[in-house]
Amino acid sequence: MRMNTRCCALLFAVLGLSACAEVNLDKAAGAAAGCEDPSEDNLIPQAPMLPGRSCMACHRQGGQASGAVWTASGTVYGSGSSACNSGGLEGVKVELADENRKILITLYTNRAGNFFTAEPLQYQKLIARVSKDGKIKEMSSPVPSGDCASCHNPTGPAGARIYLN
Ligand code: HEC
Ligand code: HEC
Repeated sequence: MRMNTRCCALLFAVLGLSACAEVNLDKAAGAAAGCEDPSEDNLIPQAPMLPGRSCMACHRQGGQASGAVWTASGTVYGSGSSACNSGGLEGVKVELADENRKILITLYTNRAGNFFTAEPLQYQKLIARVSKDGKIKEMSSPVPSGDCASCHNPTGPAGARIYLN
């Protein structure tokens, strides 16, 4: 797998091919998170990829993207629609804090609405808050995992994607 990825990186550089590293939603359990089929652009292995999906189904040890393991990741939308490929909200501030409300990390969503980090996060209870233009939402219970989309999807325990409207 590692070899494969390196070869791909080389091909990418030499031939200008995109979507070369293997990104396969069907081979990562739970990754699709109830989203519609991805567009070709969604599969390009860069920061705006696969909005709404469970990033950490792949971005984990032993996953398809084991070279880029995230400790927290997800997507923020501008409405409660369940579609994934569009509607992501850019420039949302995502704050993760510990049980003493000390901010551990502040992230901003990209043009797809995605945010992610590989920073080690140390906490007993994680608090998650998203805000933009005076709108703010905070998860009232502690966040048990940084893989936000694993719960924030129409059939997950949160029942909806993360959104600000
Ligand atoms: C179906 C699997 C899969 C899912 C789901 C997925 N990715 Fe990826 N991602 C990959 C693969 C494979 C690569 C290429 C990794 C490599 O080259 O080692 C990649 C690469 C990346 C990169 C570039 C990393 C680097 O070091 O160059 C970023 C950033 C990224 N993904 C963000 C995300 C975000 C954010 C999400 C969720 C919204 C996500 N990915 C969802 C498979 C996935
Ligand atoms: C284990 C499942 C689970 C995970 C993982 C999870 N959430 Fe949640 N989230 C929920 C549930 C359930 C609710 C609704 C009840 C509540 O607020 O506790 C919620 C509510 C929220 C809300 C408030 C939504 C609203 O409309 O008021 C925000 C914001 C939020 N989560 C952000 C996040 C972020 C950011 C992450 C990832 C760092 C995350 N959540 C990970 C289950 C989860």
